[in-house]
Formats: sequence, C-alpha cells, structure tokens
Amino acid sequence: MASPAPFRIRSLAEYHAATARAAADPTGFWADVAAPFIWRKPWDTVSAGHFAVGRATWFAGAQLNITENCLDRHLPARANQPALIWEPNDPTAPGRTLTYAQLLDAVSACAYALQKLGLGKGDRVCLYLPMIPELAIAVLACARLGAVHSVVFAGFSATAIADRVQDAGATFVITSDGMNRGAKSAPVKPTVDDALATCPGVRAVLVVRHTNEPVTMQPGRDHWYHEALLPAEDDDFHADDAIIEPEVMDAEDPLFILYTSGSTGKPKGVVHSTAGYMVWADYTFRNVFQTEEGDIHFCTADIGWVTGHTYGLYGPLLAGATSVLFEGVPTYPDAGRFWQIVEKHRVKILYTAPTAIRSLMGFPLALVERADLRSLRVIGSVGEPINEEAWHWYHEHIGRKNCPVVDTWWQTETGGIMLSALAGITPSKAAHAGLPLPGVQPVLLTADGHEIEGNDQEGLLAIKAPWPAVIRTTWGDHERCRQTYFAPYPGYYFTGDGARRDADGLYRIIGRVDDVINVSGHRFGTAEIENALNEHEAVIESAVVGFPHDVKGQGIYAYVILTGEIPADESARTALTAAISRTVEAQIGKIARPDKIQIVSGLPKTRSGKIMRRILRKVAEGELTNLGDTTTLLDPGVVAEIIAGRQ
Ligand code: WT7
Repeated sequence: MASPAPFRIRSLAEYHAATARAAADPTGFWADVAAPFIWRKPWDTVSAGHFAVGRATWFAGAQLNITENCLDRHLPARANQPALIWEPNDPTAPGRTLTYAQLLDAVSACAYALQKLGLGKGDRVCLYLPMIPELAIAVLACARLGAVHSVVFAGFSATAIADRVQDAGATFVITSDGMNRGAKSAPVKPTVDDALATCPGVRAVLVVRHTNEPVTMQPGRDHWYHEALLPAEDDDFHADDAIIEPEVMDAEDPLFILYTSGSTGKPKGVVHSTAGYMVWADYTFRNVFQTEEGDIHFCTADIGWVTGHTYGLYGPLLAGATSVLFEGVPTYPDAGRFWQIVEKHRVKILYTAPTAIRSLMGFPLALVERADLRSLRVIGSVGEPINEEAWHWYHEHIGRKNCPVVDTWWQTETGGIMLSALAGITPSKAAHAGLPLPGVQPVLLTADGHEIEGNDQEGLLAIKAPWPAVIRTTWGDHERCRQTYFAPYPGYYFTGDGARRDADGLYRIIGRVDDVINVSGHRFGTAEIENALNEHEAVIESAVVGFPHDVKGQGIYAYVILTGEIPADESARTALTAAISRTVEAQIGKIARPDKIQIVSGLPKTRSGKIMRRILRKVAEGELTNLGDTTTLLDPGVVAEIIAGRQ
C-alpha cells in the first residue's frame, strides 16, 4: 500500500486550519503527520504525559529506525539522487557527492565496522570530527545500530571532551587525524588522546584519515577507520552490496545526546527520543522552508550543534532533499565563499546565522555580486536575534528581495523550529521570528507565572503543551531536567528567553533572561566560564557577563580577582590576562575565550554576598551614568574602581 504524502501546509488558510486542528485534536493531527514514515510497529498512544510530571511521550509503543526513514525509504524513488554534497575547505580540492544509495552503503559499512568492534544498541558514542562526510556517515551508523550518538563540536577542548565522554559513559569515540580550517590545518587526534587519559571507559577509537597529520595509535584501542571498514576474513559482508539491517528501536529510545550550556556550571546532556524527534525534524523542515523532494539545501551550521543535526542531516534526509556539508569557514579563500557555494551547487535553501551575516556584510558587495544567486528560493536565519540591518541586507543582497526570510527560533531542547515564518505563507517581518508552527503553543508569562493575554505585550517565553520533540531528559539526571525546564513555571516548558508579541501576534525574541550568553550563536553559561577562569592559579574569584558585540551578538566580559597583588606593570598584567584566557581555552575551547578581561580588587556585592551583575553588565556595556541604586553594596567604592579600569 502506498504511504500517504508528507504533511504540507501550502497556504495561509491551511496554516490556520492546521493550527486549529493541532490544538483541538492533537492526536488526530500528529497521527496524520506521522503516517508517511516507515513504522515497524504502529504506536499505541500518540501523546501521553505532561509537563506537570516533567516527562511527555510521543508515539509510545511504536517501533522504527530513523535511518530506514532517512535512507532505505527513499531508494525506490531516489537511489541516484545526491543525498549529501561535501564541499571541502579548499575550493580547488575534489569534493564528494553521495547519492542515497551510496550513503546507505557507506552507513552500512561504518555500522558493520562498529558492530565488529562490539558496539550495540544503547551504547554511547562520542563523535569528535570536522565537517567531513564521515561525520554524517558515522552519526547515521550509530542510529542504524541503535547506539546513542553524542557529537561534540570539534572546537571544544580536551577537558570538555572528557567531561562529555564521562557524563555519557561513552565507550566508543570516532575522530580524525586532523582538520582543515581556512589556510591552516590542525591536529585533532592529540586532543582526543589528552581527553581519553581520564576516560578509561572508552574501549575503541576509530580514526578517520583526513589531513595526514601524524598520529599516535594506542594498540588495542585505536583503529583506522578505513581499516576497520574492511571485511573480516571469514566475512562475506562486502562480497555483495549487503546492507546492515536497521536495529528496531522503541519510539522513546534515546536517539542522541547533545550537550548544551545552562545557567549552572556544568553543560547538560539534552536527550532526544527517536520517533518524536524524527517526526518534528521532517515536519518543520518541509513546512518552514517549503522544501520539495530533491531540493538542494545548504545549512552552514556544523553537525556539532543541534542546527546541524536537525537541518544539516536528519531533516533533509527524511525529506528526500540534498544537503550540502561545508568543511571550511565563510572567509576562506575569501569572504565570498558562501555565495560561491550557492552558485556552484545551485543551492535553493540557505540557512545560516546572524553572526555570519553581520560579519560578511562588512566585506565589499562585489563578493556577493560576483556570484550567481538565482537558484536561491528561501533564506533562513537561526541561533540568535537577527538585527534589522542584517535582516535587510540578507533580504536585499542575498535574497535579491524575492526570497522569503525565515527567522527561526528554537533551542537544542526543542529539537527543531518552534517559531518561524513558513516561507512565502505566513508573515516574515524583520527581526521577528513570527508565528508559531501548528502544534506549538507559546505564551508570555509574567515573572510570577501569569499568562499575559493579548498582543503588543512582552514577557517570559514559555510553551504550554508538549510537542513531539520536546527534550525528554538530561542524561543521567532527570531531576535536573525537571528543575531547569518544568519546575520554574509548573505546567509550562520554560525557554529561558524573553519575547515580545507585536500588534499582529508575531513573536520577537529579545534574548536570554537567565545567566546564559549567546556568542556568535553559541551558548555559554556565565558560571561555566567563571569556573574555567577560576582554574587559573592566579584567579581567586570571577564574574562573567555578556555585552553587545557588533558581529558576535554578545561578547564575553570577565572580571577577575587575583589571589595575589595586581601587577603594577602593564605588560605583566597583559601577560597574565592572556594566560587566564588560555585557561578558558583549555577548559572549554577557543570559542569561549573572553573578549575582555578586567582585573579588579573586588566585585560589587550585596551585604548577603550576592554579586550585583546588573552593575557589571552596565559597565561592560559602557553605560556608566545610570548604574541604579548602589547603596546596598557592601563596598560602594568598588564601583568607581571598576568604572575606572573598564576595558
Ligand atoms: C537559544 C538556543 C536554535 C538552534 C541554534 C541555537 C537563541 C535561537 C533564535 C532566533 C532569536 C534565537 C535563543 C535560544 N535563539 N534562535 N531565531 N532569534 N534568538 O540553539 O544553542 O540551544 O540556543 O538561542 O536565546 O534560547 P541553542
């Protein structure tokens, strides 16, 4: 029997009808959306549980494998259509295109190798790889076997990898010898070696040969990927084009863990389930971008972040599209690289971050005009608020005023897009994410948890009812999940963002209301950076705040108190702050290095010992005239010192 067509909203009237139905009859609505997939066993219950108990389930009782839906399902119609196009860092180097049939073969071969090394259902695998096809292949191979993937962005430090490997109890690691970034290449494997010195639980490491950097292989533990792929002698796996059968998973089995920062010190492992995430990735991808099967989609995010998971990999494959994976950086060999990629691969949907747009806007327009961008139909933005200037530049110069801009608001925890225009269908307004997707019920709350009715209002953004890809748990600590997202406002999922609803009901995200800062679309907890700063032997205490940054959105401003005397000599102070910055790099990664470090003799604290961050934020923002009430400070004098020493 032919399966039903994918659920697609094609007009404003259909959007309103879907919104009404998803609210009034969620069971019927989601059963229809889920119908086109391959289910090995149908579900018993579409949706159960509620935020009040901190755990919802979707499609419980069903069985499936997401890779069967990403790959096998498409073979009859699109075996020879490209699934992935890999664009290497060096534009003159050969790229790679994998058709759906070839990708399934590659995933099978990788799954075979992992299986041979003993990987099985439920095991955790840490992937620490640059943006090369093997990253996508290995992620899918894990899912094929029912192993839980935990991708760690290849810019994180050894300490950060070790924390994540230990927290997840990962027994396998997949990495590469090195990586290419613009004009440079850098070793990768030594970072993993450092990390694994404190991870005795790791049994096997697969190493992809990519840059030919020299590596040290630990016998018994480390294996070259290309060698592990070879069939065992008595094995006929490669004798024909056999594929590894997908492991049959329960709907609620975890598909992946992805670590993200919160307001407490330690990043948490956000867990997504198999079925709910799959349905959400496909539904949001097709409807927000109005994708047709076979469309070429270029998501510039690394697979190390959730955007890369959902819209670089799973969403496009579920929808039978072609995804462009880019290894390099937007400014190499010059700042026209993204536009060249659009032209070269006839990209139809471009999905990138405001920080990239703001940085590329600063270069001569000739770099844009040199490229033929006529293939573009939809352009998207994600990760942080997009300012009006960047929105208009993107719309005018990249979209040539005839591509709808979709400003998509969502989070690692939401699995996929929640608030966004549906391209060409619902309103797209500069700096506004827009209307909720059908099935999403956003509300604005007052600080004490009352819903704010009506339009032209501002409040805390929360979601009122479960959606299929809502975070299931934080790995190893469900109570933390409950406390963070479901306890602050009982009955709601709390986002941590503040938002405004305009006169037409369109949402505009204002920014985080908690101690999370968003630097170039990357999320850091201020406490996490403070912990890293405090690891330096000369630092006894620190306080971190965000400040507005023209390109990054927010920059990181650190105030540090030293254990000893403040060096009188300026060059000694500079050397010390540089060393402190390197400590943050070693603890978290380059991406978390503070933009500014100010050495202070004290911090503005109340009599009860609480740091008044409001004052620190104002000084960091350069707003020095209106610091508010400082009379409750233990030592008001410290404020003058901080202002005087402002960086
Ligand atoms: C936080 C989530 C969404 C995947 C990438 C980031 C901010 C995200 C937008 C947007 C304004 C946005 C929010 C959110 N954010 N998208 N379109 N407009 N702000 O995922 O690392 O989990 O960060 O990014 O503050 O809470 P993440």
